[in-house]
Formats: sequence, C-alpha cells, structure tokens
Amino acid sequence: MAESSQIPYLLRATQGELLDRPPVWMMRQAGRYMKAYRDLRDKYPSFRERSENVDIAVEISLQPFHAFKPDGVILFSDILTPLPAIGIDFDIVESKGPIIDPPIRTQSQIDQLHPIEPEESLPFIREILQILKREVKNEAAILGFIGAPWTLAAYAIEGKSCKDYTNIKRMAFCEPEMLHQFLGKLAEAIAVYARYQINSGAQVIQMFDSWAGQLSPEDYETFALPYQKLVVQQVKKTHPNTPFILYINGSAGLLERMPQTGVDIVSVDWTVDIGEARQRLGKNIGIQGNIDPGVLFGSKEFIKSRILETIRKAGNRGHILNLGHGVLQKTPEENVEFFFKTAKEVSSLLAVTA
Ligand code: CP3
Repeated sequence: MAESSQIPYLLRATQGELLDRPPVWMMRQAGRYMKAYRDLRDKYPSFRERSENVDIAVEISLQPFHAFKPDGVILFSDILTPLPAIGIDFDIVESKGPIIDPPIRTQSQIDQLHPIEPEESLPFIREILQILKREVKNEAAILGFIGAPWTLAAYAIEGKSCKDYTNIKRMAFCEPEMLHQFLGKLAEAIAVYARYQINSGAQVIQMFDSWAGQLSPEDYETFALPYQKLVVQQVKKTHPNTPFILYINGSAGLLERMPQTGVDIVSVDWTVDIGEARQRLGKNIGIQGNIDPGVLFGSKEFIKSRILETIRKAGNRGHILNLGHGVLQKTPEENVEFFFKTAKEVSSLLAVTA
C-alpha cells in the first residue's frame, strides 16, 4: 500500500480516491479516557493552560498519535478557545464543562464584541499547529477545528452546557435580529480563525455545530445553516482545496440540507444507518462516522464486527471511519487501541467485498 506516500492517507480519501481501507481517527481522541492525559491533567489542572500552553497542548495532541497511529491528528484545543479573542471570556470547569460568565444576553454586549486578530490573541494556535505538522511528518493529516456560530452562540448565551437551550431560543424567537447580528459576528471571526489554522499547518478543518441538531429543520435553515455556509464560503475563497468536515449531533433529520453548506464531508452520528445516510447525502459528498462510542465498551469481537459492518455499508470511496461523537470518558484504552489496529488491518479482512 502506498501509505508511505507524501500525501497523508486521510487526504487521499477527501480527494475521492478509491482506497482499500478508510482512514481512521476519533473525535476527542485526546482526553480523559487516556491515562497519559489524566496524569498531565493532575499536573496542570486548568483546561485553559493545558490547551493554551504550547508544549502541553502539543504533548496532548500527540498522545493518541504515539499510542495508536490514527490517520488524523487533531489539535488539542476547544471550540471556545477563540472566544476571548473577540471579547468573550470562558473557563472549563471539571465536571461542569464550559462556563461563560456573564452570559451574552443584551444588544450592548454584542455591540462590544471586537474583530478577531488571531496573530495577536491566539499566537499559541500557530505554534501548536506548526510543531504538530513538523512532528507528524505527513504520517497523518493535521486536523484543525472550529465551532460553528450556532453552537458557539448557544454556549455564550446559555453560559454553560444545558439541555433545553431556552435562552438562545428565547432570543431566536423574540429578538431574532439581535441573534442574527451575533451569529454574523461569530461567523466572520470563525472564518478568520479557520484560515489562520490552515495557514499554520491544518490540512483539514472540522466544523462542529454540535447543538444545531436541537433545531427544527426550519430553524436550522434560519439560524444555523446560513452561518455554516458563510464560514465555508469565506474560507474557500482563499483556501479552496482545504477539505471541510461538518458535524452536527443528532443530524438525522437534517442530512439532506447539510451539503448546501458547501462542505466536502458530512460527519454523521450512529442514529442513522451509514448506507442510508450515503444515499440521502448524494454522490458528491464524502461521509465520516459513525460508530456508537458505546460500542467501545463491548467485546473485541463485537467492536470488530461493527467496524466491518460500517465499512461495508459506507463503501470504499470518500469515507473516513470515526465514531458518531467523541470517545467517552470511561472507555477502556485497550479497546481504543484494538479499534485502531482492526481498522488499519481491515483491507485484508474485507478484500472480498471491494
Ligand atoms: O478531538 C480532540 O481530541 C480535540 C479536542 C477537543 C476538545 N473539545 C477538548 C476538550 C475538541 C475537538 C473539542 C470540541 C468541543 N468542545 C465540542 C464539539 C464536539 C462535541 O463534543 O460535540 C464541544 C461541544 C465543546 C464544548 C465542551 N468543552 C464540552 C461539552 C466539554 C466537556 C465537558 C465535560 O466536562 O465533559 C468541554 C471540555 C473539553 N474539551 C474536554 C476536552 C478533552 C474535557 C475536559 C478536560 O479534559 O478537562
């Protein structure tokens, strides 16, 4: 296999090449299920420090790469990382998640936000990506990522993780103009931030609109899709060849709409059959996913059977094997190792179906 060629294997999949196994990585592949991560977290309890100190963030990003050799290495950071650069401070508190205090609820708070200047306020992102690119040497693709405007606005307006999204929905349904202004500002900033990541070494951008699946299709078309599209269009103007992956949690009711954003690959969760998702998305778009992260709590035989089933259904072109959402905190590390090993040996297991 030409896996040693200069183009990272994952990028070959994004170019629609026929491959004898799909590339594989995992959302949240760096994190608390790994002992090496927990040890570092004990030493550096602040999430902001772990993700903004260049040496620590590089080390964490590379932990899963050294342990499992995935085809993608994702920058260790958070979707909220760029928010201070436009004037919204945040913290991530153990067992609570992201906290934004005070939350953004008024026009004057939105008026006070400022344009992003990543070179000045996010210099660590450039350094982390440059080092990753150098260390990984095209043995894997370097993935950058961004939060989409709807999901970032949801955190900023709610002030924390929540279940019902009543504050942002109140704004959407009572003061839509105000929310549109906020979403527009976020889209501008996020596009600049994505470009900055690409210029610093990211070879793929994954856009997370994790909470857009909380919207009805009609509201998705009003409050999420146009801003996802704006970000993609802005970035593609200067970087037309950098592939975009779009992930929405709970996207099964939105799939047909997602290609309208202009992304190259749609990342689907496990509540949809990946073969059916392919048909619904159409031929011109790639697919990523979609194994239930809970499968990694099953036996090795079970994990293997789900990998094979997913790959058979997805076909051998334009598919990136991944979970349907981030790897869960208590996942046995040896099952993650087994997942990657099996996924990389899959061409011999599957040879007959090609
Ligand atoms: O994939 C990777 O390995 C890169 C790292 C990454 C993190 N956050 C690190 C992190 C990525 C890609 C994200 C994206 C992110 N952050 C999303 C989109 C993906 C998704 O899960 O839908 C969202 C919604 C967030 C917001 C956020 N940050 C949440 C919901 C949490 C978890 C809260 C909790 O305590 O479980 C965070 C914190 C966070 N970001 C952690 C990690 C590893 C866990 C906290 C820690 O390790 O201390």
